[in-house]
Amino acid sequence: MAGPIPREFIDDLLDRADITQIIGERVKLKRAGREYKGLCPFHNEKTPSFTVSPTKGFFHCFGCGAHGSALSFMMQHDRLDFPAAVEALADRYGLEVPRSGPSRPSGKGLYELLNGAALHYIEGLKASTPAKDYLKGRGLTGKIAQAFGIGYAPAGNGILARFGQTEDDRRRLVDAGLALKGDSGELYDRFRDRIMFPIRDRRGRVTGFGGRAMGDVQPKYMNSPETPVFHKGRELYGLHELGRQKVGRCVLVEGYMDVIGLAQHDVPGAMATLGTSITPQQLTLLFRISPSVVFCFDGDPAGRRAAERAMERALPEMRGGRQLSFAFLPEGEDPDSYVRSEGAAAFNKVLDSATPMSEFLMQTLSAQCDLATAEGRARIAELARPLIGSTPIGVYRDLLVNRLADEVQLPRERLGQLLETSQRRRASVRRPAAPGTLRNDPWGNLAESLAGLLLNFPELAMDADPLPELQYLKDPRVGLLAELFETARSTPGISPVKLVERYRERPEHGLLSRLLARETELTPEQAKREFEEGVARLRRENSIREMAARTPS
Ligand code: UTP
Ligand code: MN
Repeated sequence: MAGPIPREFIDDLLDRADITQIIGERVKLKRAGREYKGLCPFHNEKTPSFTVSPTKGFFHCFGCGAHGSALSFMMQHDRLDFPAAVEALADRYGLEVPRSGPSRPSGKGLYELLNGAALHYIEGLKASTPAKDYLKGRGLTGKIAQAFGIGYAPAGNGILARFGQTEDDRRRLVDAGLALKGDSGELYDRFRDRIMFPIRDRRGRVTGFGGRAMGDVQPKYMNSPETPVFHKGRELYGLHELGRQKVGRCVLVEGYMDVIGLAQHDVPGAMATLGTSITPQQLTLLFRISPSVVFCFDGDPAGRRAAERAMERALPEMRGGRQLSFAFLPEGEDPDSYVRSEGAAAFNKVLDSATPMSEFLMQTLSAQCDLATAEGRARIAELARPLIGSTPIGVYRDLLVNRLADEVQLPRERLGQLLETSQRRRASVRRPAAPGTLRNDPWGNLAESLAGLLLNFPELAMDADPLPELQYLKDPRVGLLAELFETARSTPGISPVKLVERYRERPEHGLLSRLLARETELTPEQAKREFEEGVARLRRENSIREMAARTPS
């Protein structure tokens, strides 16, 4: 439902983004003059042809042609789509991505409404003896219920009755995920006769709810849908409640009740995803609190499967000293039940003996092959390729490769080669085919070089005379030049990479990126002269063609 991301925000983000640092976290870079060079992460090479230019905010590989801004790099390297890359970059710099556009209902109204609903549910709990008894029966103290703002949604349509007076109010209730439209168009409360867990964002605003049935009703939990203010992949249950507490490690558990149970028994740092697998954003949040994160799962087969899924999600995020391990509880227990029956000390012991992810990965892989045979060892390497290939280049990846090399009794280098081939394959599958080159008029080549000059020196557009109309030169690159000129002129101070970024969705993006990547040895003065001369030549050719067109032959 989110509208487009405003252009100014992307510009601002690119201004802040330190491309050398961002790429440097994934690729070993060496300074070479004004630029940095390294081995291209998108293809297999022995001598570095991958170049990063901090001044242009741009990277380019002369070997395979990969290129782009910090955002493009994150998209290609971390396999994100554009909004997700913007999100990840914004997150890094502590910015919130604003969304504009008509599709965006007012978030402010929704926050107030959701907060009102949370209070309404708390009143509902005070007034319901069965609900209070249920929570007591599960061992919750009044204090912890209060700390987590737990409430109760009575049966019936109390929310609609209280907050749904006008048509507008009712629409907002639907936007907030608090009311639903039935088949015949009538509205009703989403949460009825359920224990309510408010989900709060980092700033403590209620953004959604989880509602648990007290009996054997299916589904056991109902959750708010995605709304303009509630994004399951971005929130962590228990993050706000943790407050400013310093913790030695974060514990990721599966359920609301697990978070609450651990908090009540003084095992700090427990948080849960909202019934979905972990996302990179959520991992970032966890690692921001502590470099050490333990995923805690049930000891049954479902728990192991969930752990494997979580591992696949986490591998691409393992950089910069992050430590992740997996703890498994005895079969039939979840963190809530275990800490209640065995206490905090026992629970901490389980966490202390958690399996590091590298070890868990080897266990998972070797469970699928017979390592006593050569075939089995070949197969484990095959299975490991996509997983290890998904991790960022760096210490962690080296560790995994070494660990696997031991396991399969292959020299480290040989294994490294095997893994790299698979990465190259992936990269080439993912890179979109180069858009058809725009080429049909030799004068287009001149327009193209001028576009390249303009890209590298956008300030040229400010000093130069307005571009003449060149309507008799039909090459599309002439049109592109004119457009670039206009943009550069109407946006004083625009940087090269931002100019290119404006073309992200268009076929010209590839061409412009290549032009920007070309090294220019020109000084601004030389560039100005070349630009003016080039434009004069284009104009001359244009008038010649104009005359030809008017002269009947
Ligand atoms: P669990 O079934 O482990 O529930 O689901 P729980 O948190 O331990 O709750 P209790 O102890 O039975 O009361 C783990 C999480 O999965 C999501 C919820 O986020 C829940 O906390 N879930 C589960 C749903 O979204 N819907 C469901 O029907 C069940
Ligand atoms: Mn439980």
